[in-house]
Amino acid sequence: MEILRSREAVRRWTAAHHAAGRTVALVPTMGFLHRAHTDLMRAAADHADVVIASIFVNPTQFGPDEDFDRYPRDESGDLEKAKAAGCAAAFLPSVAEMYPPNPSTRVTVATLSTHLCGASRPVFFDGICTIVAKLFHIVGCDVAVFGEKDFQQLAIIRRMVRDLDFPVRIVGHPLVREPDGLTMSSRNAYLSPAQRRDALTLSKALAEADARFRAGERDADTLRALLRGRLEAVGSIAVDYAELVDAETLQPVLGAIDRPTLAAVAVDLGGTRLIDNTVLGRDRPG
Ligand code: PAF
Repeated sequence: MEILRSREAVRRWTAAHHAAGRTVALVPTMGFLHRAHTDLMRAAADHADVVIASIFVNPTQFGPDEDFDRYPRDESGDLEKAKAAGCAAAFLPSVAEMYPPNPSTRVTVATLSTHLCGASRPVFFDGICTIVAKLFHIVGCDVAVFGEKDFQQLAIIRRMVRDLDFPVRIVGHPLVREPDGLTMSSRNAYLSPAQRRDALTLSKALAEADARFRAGERDADTLRALLRGRLEAVGSIAVDYAELVDAETLQPVLGAIDRPTLAAVAVDLGGTRLIDNTVLGRDRPG
């Protein structure tokens, strides 16, 4: 696996593959890789001839009080995992390589970014869109693969690609769970054993809402209240949102559920932000 640290080296790498007639898939990550990431890398190989992973903890998507400094990092472990997952290259730029001093351009996807995670994290999606747009320009990939754990991120990136005509095909990959139902996340590393047990409330609440939906419940407010109630019953959990939204537009579903609907939750558990989601009737959470 080639280890690339400069934009120029990545451009040359992609140009060489394109010149040889090979397509390139990008898996953007912030590192501290786990199976959800390596699954994306393996899935990416189904969509292109060669796969490159980017590993970059992107400062612009963290708010001033968020965990940028303590976000877990493990470069050598990440390189081993990316290689074992079949990546042909890894791009590990520094912050100075990715951002010029005092950049004045940001990418905003207006309509999808202001609610759910965007409501409590005002800079989050602008930071993500900006770095993903830059990665697409630098790497020149044909395909990019993102996990559905970050369902809103995926929807926003699809919209950005559509609106700004990026010649990149976006592939979404199903959320990956631990055997007990917890969604895989680099931030799970912050959890104590007791917090980790409490964290299972998220997938259990979603599984219960999903089971009620499958049993015929179609009232969005009833399922929304169920989710919130299960989360609020756990003392260590502070609910950011427990929502039912249209799986396409991400707008709240009110009243009867009559279209593909995402149940999505976000909480603070002892200072750690956790999110989880499920498309009702489609996946089986937990
Ligand atoms: O999902 C992530 O890990 C990040 O938001 C991404 C897409 C790599 C951008 O920094």
